[in-house]
Amino acid sequence: MTFEEARAQFPVLERYAYLQAGSVGPLSRGTIGAMRAEEERGLNEGRGSFGAFMRLLEAREALRGEIAALVGVGGEHVALTASTTDGCNIVLGGLALGPADEVITTTDEHFGLLGPLHMSGAKVVVVEPEPERISAAVTPRTRLIAISHVLWTTGAILPVHELRAQTGIPILADGAQSVGAIPVDATGLDFYTVSGQKWLCGPEGTGALVVADPDGLRCDRPSYLSQDGYEQDGAFVRKAGAARFDPNLTPAAATAGIRASIGAVPEWGYERAFEIAERFRSRLGEVGCDVVTPDERATLVSWRVPADGSAALVARLADAGVVVRDLPGRGLIRASVGWWSDESDLESLVAGLGATS
Ligand SMILES: Cc1ncc(COP(=O)(O)O)c(C=O)c1O
Repeated sequence: MTFEEARAQFPVLERYAYLQAGSVGPLSRGTIGAMRAEEERGLNEGRGSFGAFMRLLEAREALRGEIAALVGVGGEHVALTASTTDGCNIVLGGLALGPADEVITTTDEHFGLLGPLHMSGAKVVVVEPEPERISAAVTPRTRLIAISHVLWTTGAILPVHELRAQTGIPILADGAQSVGAIPVDATGLDFYTVSGQKWLCGPEGTGALVVADPDGLRCDRPSYLSQDGYEQDGAFVRKAGAARFDPNLTPAAATAGIRASIGAVPEWGYERAFEIAERFRSRLGEVGCDVVTPDERATLVSWRVPADGSAALVARLADAGVVVRDLPGRGLIRASVGWWSDESDLESLVAGLGATS
């Protein structure tokens, strides 16, 4: 498929410079087609038949395998969740931490990770998102390093594999801004989260959690999907592998939608996404934006603005047909540049900035 054909799958791009995959990606005709077909089937044939349920279970296992392949692990290590936040809650609940334990995180994490960390009962140690500071914060009490693979603020890539190897401490990598944006290999990491609705352009309410050692994590938030048999008092036989952590039955339409989205990622996607993100950085720099350019960077492009004016600037850009977001309180505006983005999006952004300055 050529770039033009692949881009044409996203109708929103015909109308807007849509640069918001870091929140929710653009939807493609293929994804919506797959979801509609599934909704139609439910409408006409009923959702609760034995056949429909078996079909859904089969689709789930296929999806598990597809996500596993995407991040380089076996399907037995993948739980199907609704979000990254879901995955973080499963890990933090399952580790059963207490006040004598420490978890290390950074100043640049999303609440989807921070909330579960705060509720874990452990002491949360917060450091700047720099590898040396993270490893220097390790003490004999450290039970977990919980950080983003790609920071949602600046798009910096954190060296999660190196930190795991150097410190020997289990790591929870928040993959919300990485999976679908950059190549990801989750092997060697203890826990890795996936958000389906962002860079994979899937429906909302889809995601995954990679668990390297499912038997080493308590299943403390069981669902019907967690068990292979149970007693009337609730005692249950855990499913094999990470499937025991599946927290909910993703709707059939969303399951079909995320499968279609993953199947449509072009093989040149990562390379193109990196190149066009670099193009955004250099062009924005040329027109005077104070672009944040970390040494190791993914596909989020952020630039500094006065913090008190960032929301108003985002609103003015929206009026100009440019969809970006600000990072409240941080004085940053963020453009999410995907493999589907092109020069016309960039020029709309530049024109919008010119018109609003
Ligand atoms: C780094 C990071 N972590 C977690 C989240 C939350 O993701 P989800 O909605 O899949 O829970 C986001 C969403 O923007 C994010 O950027």
